Amino acid sequence: MKKLILTCLIIMLSLGSVFAQGAAETLDIGLAMPETHVLRWQLDGAALLEDATAMGYSAEVAYGDADQGKQNQQIEDFITKGAKLLIVGSINTGVVSVVSSAADDGVIVIAYDRLIQDSDDYDYYITFDNFKVGQFQGKAIEEALNLPAATKADPKYITLFAGSATDNNANFFFDGAMSILRPYVESGVVKLVGQAPLDSSSSDFTRIATENWRADVAKTRMENLLGNDAKNVVLDAVLAPNDTLARAIIEALATDAKYSTTDKLPVVTGQDGEVASIQFIRDGKQYMTVFKDTRSLASAAIKLADALLKGESPVIEGARLDTETYNTGKKLIKSYLLEPVNVTKDNFQEIMIDSGYYKAEDIK
Ligand code: BGC
Repeated sequence: MKKLILTCLIIMLSLGSVFAQGAAETLDIGLAMPETHVLRWQLDGAALLEDATAMGYSAEVAYGDADQGKQNQQIEDFITKGAKLLIVGSINTGVVSVVSSAADDGVIVIAYDRLIQDSDDYDYYITFDNFKVGQFQGKAIEEALNLPAATKADPKYITLFAGSATDNNANFFFDGAMSILRPYVESGVVKLVGQAPLDSSSSDFTRIATENWRADVAKTRMENLLGNDAKNVVLDAVLAPNDTLARAIIEALATDAKYSTTDKLPVVTGQDGEVASIQFIRDGKQYMTVFKDTRSLASAAIKLADALLKGESPVIEGARLDTETYNTGKKLIKSYLLEPVNVTKDNFQEIMIDSGYYKAEDIK
């Protein structure tokens, strides 16, 4: 009897492990998002998961906490679980080793929002028009300060911030913005306060970059500037690459008597349409943001994934196919670009609330 029970137990255990393995190998799509401290990624992750599931795929999402080693582990786990396709918002080029092992295993990789640099092991990238994001930021400053009418005798003072130097998008945002601002710097009607790279290839670029897009890093740099280069000038604008950093910069500015006593902050740009920044825009603290609808990006990415998994050629409505702009350093990647939207006090109600992205009561 004992022997029979033991045999049954062994059979059950071995079946169990087969089932466990079987269950573990049913993952279709692994969704690797870079971080959660910038709110959008939580929305991206949730929307991707929802869209993938709605199309009948089994999917899992993981957040890398701005740590490439951690994200690589998460990606390896997806591969072990049998993922056939990975959608990756990477942190830095440390991701290339796992992208390469994915390719060896025949797993398709789509670079999501951020280009994966230094790799030729994937073919597709889906994002927004990142250069245009920067152009919107530059144009907002140009208009708000009326730069075409500015003079050398009475120049405008601007400080520059950029995103993470390991994020290819940060270059595009900055170069887009500087494509608008640079002529005014060169003609002398704009004075740059603090480090002054004119494009992302300048060696000074890393000095205005913000490690891992961290708010505390940007806040400290702004505080340092206010005590040094920006001590004896009244800033007219700060080029801030996204909302998280914009609010940190505004926090630092608001403690400086030059701005707190006059209640007149410099024009500060942003990006992402974060709810807290929409409140700042409404209240006149932040000048603008650039909205990139994560719902559209996620849904386009899952449509792309679906086509690739079915071996069909992708047709992504609402996105422009660009095969010439995004080079990993090893090859040009087929890129689908969605349209960003410029948001100010004048249109935030329509773009952010009437569209259903936020509820009116979210904007406190
Ligand atoms: C994204 C931005 C985001 C930033 C920080 C960039 O790659 O395009 O939307 O604000 O990363 O997470």
